[in-house]
Amino acid sequence: MNDLDAARQRLKSAHRVAVLTGAGISKPSGIPTFRDAAGLWKDFDLEEYATPGAYAKNPQKVWEWYAWRYKNVLEARPNPAHEGLVRLEESLGEGFVLVTQNVDGLHRRAGSRRVVELHGNITQGRCERCGERFPLPAPQDFTPPPHCPACGARGRPDVVWFGELLPEGAFDRALEAFAACEVALVIGTSGEVEPAASLGRVAYHSGAYLIEINPESTPLSPIADCSLRMGAVEGMEALMQAFRLKEP
Ligand code: APR
Repeated sequence: MNDLDAARQRLKSAHRVAVLTGAGISKPSGIPTFRDAAGLWKDFDLEEYATPGAYAKNPQKVWEWYAWRYKNVLEARPNPAHEGLVRLEESLGEGFVLVTQNVDGLHRRAGSRRVVELHGNITQGRCERCGERFPLPAPQDFTPPPHCPACGARGRPDVVWFGELLPEGAFDRALEAFAACEVALVIGTSGEVEPAASLGRVAYHSGAYLIEINPESTPLSPIADCSLRMGAVEGMEALMQAFRLKEP
């Protein structure tokens, strides 16, 4: 039995599956990754756009960058890889947890419900004064910065910047899912950013079967039980055939 057949069988027989996604799963939807050849950090200095210091120094410049990304995200559509994860959740119910580093909201728009957004969501603002989270106005009505609907103070992008803490409880929920899963599926992440990058290792050391989908190798590849060296759409298509196989 080759790795893919083994991965299909493990996925099909599992009752608890934890998934971690990164920017690569949204690339087929036209949303740029960060560290790829054409990634955002090639064109934009993250120190000027994605840190608390950058925002303190020039909030308008940071908001204009996030408003540009927000408009691109709303024009994007979930792709078959997002949709395959919805089917996996429908098959597993409470045994399924999807942890994403992505802020594009495409998993929820595809229909995923059991989602943990580790790095926030670019379609929301968060009040600098009272912490209220609120949806951003429609792109055509949006001139940054937004203001808090509850107290009127200025809102900031509701995303996690480098050096900031993750949303309260998010990583605890992610860690619990990866420590308890029978199969861990890691899709489209370079594994460069902690603590998200540790989740695959936690699952592996807890005895889970570890599947990676990525056209490139990553720090996780050496310990993956099955590394599908392909894109997210092809990889999910290949894995989900397990759910179309007639019982032998
Ligand atoms: N399908 C699957 N994976 C792909 C595809 C594809 N079609 N195209 C590229 N990839 C892979 C790349 O090989 C790379 O390993 O997606 C990965 C993207 O890596 P990054 O750009 O580093 O994105 P990510 O891992 O999500 O970054 C993590 O870093 O900048 C912060 O907060 C930001 O959430 C982000 C975090």
